[in-house]
Formats: sequence, C-alpha cells, structure tokens
Amino acid sequence: MTIEIKGLTVHYGDSQVLDRIDLVLPDRGMTALIGANGAGKTTLLRTLMGLVRPTAGEIIVDGRRMTGLDAEQRPALGLAMVPEGRRLFQGLSVHENLRMGAFARRDTVQIARDFERIYDQFPALVPLRRQLAGTLSGGQQQMCAVGRALMARPRYLLVDEMSLGLSPVVTEDLARTLSRIQETDGTSILVVEQDVELALDITNFGYVMETSRIVLSGPSDTLRANPKIREAYLGL
Ligand SMILES: Nc1ncnc2c1ncn2[C@@H]1O[C@H](COP(=O)(O)OP(=O)(O)OP(=O)(O)O)[C@@H](O)[C@H]1O
Ligand SMILES: [Mg+2]
Repeated sequence: MTIEIKGLTVHYGDSQVLDRIDLVLPDRGMTALIGANGAGKTTLLRTLMGLVRPTAGEIIVDGRRMTGLDAEQRPALGLAMVPEGRRLFQGLSVHENLRMGAFARRDTVQIARDFERIYDQFPALVPLRRQLAGTLSGGQQQMCAVGRALMARPRYLLVDEMSLGLSPVVTEDLARTLSRIQETDGTSILVVEQDVELALDITNFGYVMETSRIVLSGPSDTLRANPKIREAYLGL
C-alpha cells in the first residue's frame, strides 16, 4: 500500500509549477521533500490533498486513482496535511481545533480515545485545551496543527515546513514525536523542510525539487553525502 504519483503536472494560469513529477510514498517510513523556495513543494502537497487540480498525471492511493475526488473525500482515504503556516482556526480553542481534524470520522468512541492520545503525545497542550489557538506561541500552534492532522487518523501524513520559526529545541521535540508516531502507528510521513539537515536526519528516503521538477532522489544518507546537496543545502 503506497501513494504513487506519476507524471503529475500543475499549472497556475499559464505558468507551470509542477512538471511531470514522479514520487512514491511507501506504506511505512519517513520521506523528505526538499528544495529551494518556490520549487513547488507546497503545491505538490496541496495537489495530493485535492486543493489544487492537476493538468496532467495521476495520484494513486492504495491502488485507487484520486482523479475527480474532492478535497473533502481525501481524509477518509487516509490523507492528512499539516499545512505551511499551521493555519489553525484562530478563534477556536485548542480542543476545538483538534476536533476539526476528525470532521470526516463517525467513530465517536475512537475519536474520544484519540483526543487522549494527542494529549499524551503533546502534554504541553493539556493546560491549553480551552485557550484560543490565535493566542498560542509558535511551538504550541505547531503542536496543535500536528495534533489536528493526527485526529484524522491518517495513514499518510504530509507535513509542510514544520520547523519554520521554531527554536531548535521545539523542532527536535516535534521531530521526535513524528518519528514515534511513524513507528507506533506505521503512518507514512512526508516531510517538506527548509531545514535539510533535520529532514535528512529523520527520514529514510528523500526527493529534491528544483523549479517544478524532481532532480534527485535516493536514500537520505546518500543524499546527505552528495556533494551537490552538501553545497546547495547544507552549506558545507
Ligand atoms: N495560488 C497560486 N497562484 C499562482 N501561483 C502560485 C500559487 N501558489 C503558488 N504559486 C507559485 O507556484 C510556485 C511554487 O510555489 P510553492 O508554494 O509550491 O513552492 P514551495 O516549494 O512550497 O516554496 P517555499 O519553500 O517558499 O514554501 C511559486 O512560483 C509560487 O509563486
Ligand atoms: Mg512551501
């Protein structure tokens, strides 16, 4: 069971933002997607979530073609995203934001258990349950955003720029949580990261994007040792 992306092409008006992208997200494991600003990483995630309509190519989740499926139908297929910039519902509490993540689910008993699991994963959120998301610190917001995505019980979790604006300590803490979730739940996680060092540290496999195309892919260790990656992304 995997997500297969084949020849995915996206245009915004006349400009091509994704050019025949091929990418595989395995059933289990952590995958990195790195690349310069404007390469098209967020667009790729938004297309996976059904928020952007591709002009060509296909996305196949567990053997099923996504073509024609609305964004609302995708969480039920096991897809969830932690969006760039977190995009919490600012006027709702932490708890209400978490509940929004479960909007597509009907299994009330399991939802109640999952709330407790999220609070176990992120104990810092417990005293903040009733606090409005708009008043949280950056790190607290990111925990809430990850928690909200997990409330969908995803088998595939797409995480966009998790570390942006966060201290190294908070970032490492969140990264450890993702790894733990991956191991315990077998979730397949795709991380889009500006912090390339971090991304290659926590993943098994990585893809490198440059202006709308995948230019390089391979095991994360191999990418880390690649002179081009070291120079362009790791400053070595
Ligand atoms: N809704 C939109 N309409 C028109 N152009 C867009 C839209 N969204 C993104 N773009 C353009 O598409 C290109 C890719 O943007 P995208 O956000 O996917 O890049 P990214 O790799 O996520 O960059 P970053 O690392 O800065 O987040 C950019 O040139 C951007 O200006
Ligand atoms: Mg982006």
